[in-house]
Amino acid sequence: MVDKITVDWERAREFVTGDDLEALRSRLEEAGKKLVEKTGPGKEFLGWLDLPVKGIGALGAIEEEAARIRAEAEALVVIGIGGSYLGARAVIEALSDPGRPPIIYYAGHNLSAEHLGKVREQIKSKRVFLNVISKSGTTTEPGIAFRILREEMEKTYGKDLASRRIIATTDASKGALRSLAEKEGYRTFVIPDDVGGRFSVLTPVGLLPIAAAGIDIRKLLEGAAALTPLSDVSNLIDEPSGLYAALRYVLYLKGKGMEIMAVWNDRLKYVAEWWKQLFGESEGKEGRGIFPASVTFPTDLHSLGQWIQEGPRDFFETFLLIRENAFRMEIPRADDDLDGLSYLAGKDIGEVCMKACEGTAMAHQSGHVPCLSINMPELSAFYLGQLLYLFERAVALGGYLLGINPFDQPGVEAYKKNMFRLLGKPGS
Ligand code: PA5
Repeated sequence: MVDKITVDWERAREFVTGDDLEALRSRLEEAGKKLVEKTGPGKEFLGWLDLPVKGIGALGAIEEEAARIRAEAEALVVIGIGGSYLGARAVIEALSDPGRPPIIYYAGHNLSAEHLGKVREQIKSKRVFLNVISKSGTTTEPGIAFRILREEMEKTYGKDLASRRIIATTDASKGALRSLAEKEGYRTFVIPDDVGGRFSVLTPVGLLPIAAAGIDIRKLLEGAAALTPLSDVSNLIDEPSGLYAALRYVLYLKGKGMEIMAVWNDRLKYVAEWWKQLFGESEGKEGRGIFPASVTFPTDLHSLGQWIQEGPRDFFETFLLIRENAFRMEIPRADDDLDGLSYLAGKDIGEVCMKACEGTAMAHQSGHVPCLSINMPELSAFYLGQLLYLFERAVALGGYLLGINPFDQPGVEAYKKNMFRLLGKPGS
């Protein structure tokens, strides 16, 4: 039997009781039913729920295109922002072999001439492909980056050849990017109408760059599919996505308005970035929602560790843990022991990290921080796929518990309106 990801709340028992969870059982079931029967707010955006099973059908074309990129490119620039880039980056940074081409660059997620200039410089001497990703096809930040890099590609390769090296992932029929792609003859992949940006990692939005980076996208989907389908779950409170949603909600009701995701492996930093977007953009509405923050330990124990240990007690912490580490490095002996570390000689660094982690959880718990943990058996495509899908389900269930629509993002428009007016966009 394959191991599954588990959610542990032993170190949160000062704040959460079995009765708290029991009291939520029926509301959680109701939330799950709304998702399965597609009757809750945002029901038109539930396509992501079926992707682990249905998505398999579309994999051939993605794999073929990824193979073409791998054969013909030394560099791939992924242009997108928010849900149109974070999922791909999370998986690629977690799993790819950085020594294997193509090198993946990211653009369009900021408005930095310096960043874009560097990317343009770094890809100059390389054989390049661009994957521009935008569901609306009208987002300003990736739009600007694409305009600049496309011009560069056309200068280098000529218009026709450049068009063969540009892939657009966008809506099936609407938006400026769709029109441009059709006019220029770019290859295209479709973002399904019923999948919102932050839930799109298992569509071509995430899967094409991930496959181009040499990661097994079938395993990613298999991992997600290994989570019991919501329709077959008899008790959501006993299932990891339901339990995580319920624990967060109980803690929120008890005044814990912020969640700090602590990762213990630098390769998971972008998984935490993706998680922040998923939870922040889904939940922060109508004056409600848990603020999602993240830290990388042990690095941040030497900066934010003090605040977590002794600052305000209005948050909880979730440790994202990997049980088995693939890399080992033994700590050597030193005859003089001047650094006083000989007591660690012969131990693997991962073993020291596990103890640091346990010691941190004990310290934070004794500092009255509720500590949850999410335990992955190993860092692999299978378990990462499962983790991403688990989070998607948890935020959907949690959104319904909070009484908001987890699938829209009306607040994102506010800054855009002002920016367009300040920039003098026609009609703004
Ligand atoms: O999750 C979301 O919907 C957003 O973060 C979008 O992905 C982001 O704003 C980019 O939008 P688009 O893909 O339309 O360029």
